[in-house]
Amino acid sequence: MTSEQTFIAVKPDGVQRGLVGEIISRFEKRGFKLAAIKLITPSKEHLEKHYEDLSDKPFFKGLITYMGSGPVCAMVWEGREVVKTGRMILGATNPLASQPGTIRGDYAIDVGRNVCHGSDAVESAKKEIDLWFKKEEVQSYTQAQHGWIY
Ligand code: TYD
Repeated sequence: MTSEQTFIAVKPDGVQRGLVGEIISRFEKRGFKLAAIKLITPSKEHLEKHYEDLSDKPFFKGLITYMGSGPVCAMVWEGREVVKTGRMILGATNPLASQPGTIRGDYAIDVGRNVCHGSDAVESAKKEIDLWFKKEEVQSYTQAQHGWIY
């Protein structure tokens, strides 16, 4: 089985609205494995690195302020094609374009308050996991239920 990891974060609005459990639950029920989790209020420097590809966008400054306004629930999820599937679970960047049944499609309206983040590719997932987590914070273990899921 080829497995991969992705970086998923519940943004400050999602944490403050009490959506952490709901978001974890959707990934767990789908069969993905939680490999790391922590609450962190990221610094401006940290966020500028995380979103460096967007630094020339008009919404960049507001995005950094919003993302640093409170705790973010940072996670690593693992499983087959979890990067692509994780993005499907989250929904489209703009919540108004997200399908009902996705997290953003069920819980958000505004692109600037879209509740959650998910890596957009395997390579960016690796970069983001390295930025948000130390090696020893990412756990490696076997889940008995995986014999049934895969
Ligand atoms: P982006 O990386 O394009 O989307 P995604 O988070 O789905 O990978 O953008 C990063 C975040 O920037 C996005 O989640 C919300 C915010 N954003 C805005 O505030 N306004 C915008 O017009 C866009 C495209 C994004």
